[in-house]
Amino acid sequence: MTRILTGVKPTGIPHIGNYFGTFEPALRRAGEYDEAFWFIANYHALNQIQDAEQLEHNTLSIAATWLACGLDPNEAFLYAQSDIPEVFELETMLNSFTPKGWMNKAHAYKAAADKNTEANKPTDDGVSMGLYTYPILMAADILIFDANVIPVGKDQVQHVEIARDIAQKINQHAGQDLFVLPEHRIEENVGTIVGVDGRKMSKSYNNVIPLFSTAEDRQNAINKIVTDSTAPEDPKEAEGTPLLTLFSLVATPEETEAFKSELEAGGLGWGDAKKRLGEKMDSYFSSMSAEYFRLMDNPDEVRAILRDGAEKVRPLAHEHIAKLRSAMGVI
Ligand code: TRP
Repeated sequence: MTRILTGVKPTGIPHIGNYFGTFEPALRRAGEYDEAFWFIANYHALNQIQDAEQLEHNTLSIAATWLACGLDPNEAFLYAQSDIPEVFELETMLNSFTPKGWMNKAHAYKAAADKNTEANKPTDDGVSMGLYTYPILMAADILIFDANVIPVGKDQVQHVEIARDIAQKINQHAGQDLFVLPEHRIEENVGTIVGVDGRKMSKSYNNVIPLFSTAEDRQNAINKIVTDSTAPEDPKEAEGTPLLTLFSLVATPEETEAFKSELEAGGLGWGDAKKRLGEKMDSYFSSMSAEYFRLMDNPDEVRAILRDGAEKVRPLAHEHIAKLRSAMGVI
């Protein structure tokens, strides 16, 4: 039995960089495994999003995104982390076996601590215990379901390694395989999709193309793509430009080649080329967008799907916890 599992932290509304980095590859690869677990890591997000309305909205938005991108809740499990209380019981168990020093070395904490040191502030200024123990909660997400493969971006590899190390430590201590050792699977596209200014697409750079939006809003973002000042009639350098790279994400290789040749030949202005990209993106994303907005208008439907997903997987979590309790003498 092989299980693929990943969580998405609901800290913002997804853009096309998230689509091509996380949702699309996850759903494409799910078929290679016996079971797929996709969840919304809302307790991880609570470290960053402490406005209740916003957290709830973002959580529903990530669920609606999975569904609009094609997740079939009859074929994969979709749930909210917060609906699996066994995860938090497991986190408490893992706490007892996790050396504090491992947390000191975890990227997110270390980055915050280093930044404080540089700014001459106390090391732990503004660091919550939630941020500090972030990797332990993530380990619980993974280990509770004995997941084998964890697709993540490069920035999360260390966290999956920590989960594996904790699992190994407990297995050794117990002298039995209480946990499956998870492996990461790197998604190359995470955080590498180019944004409209040529840097990586990121909310913090304000260079994103929205995933779910009207054609007009998406076109407005596309119109900001940086180009050179070559006149419409002149041949253009297309290779490696954000415009062509973004086009290639939503077009076939043949269409991309034809678009590139047209730009190189001259006669197609950058402005018209951006319109073409807008049209192409709209045909790629318009039905997904419509489904996303339909779901966001029906939050009870989304909540019911999440609850249903949690109900399906909780017995597994419950059984695992029972086995762990008995192995540890927790009565
Ligand atoms: N930490 C992950 C991120 O920021 C989200 C996450 C939480 C996750 N729990 C997980 C990913 C378990 C994979 C497995 O992207």
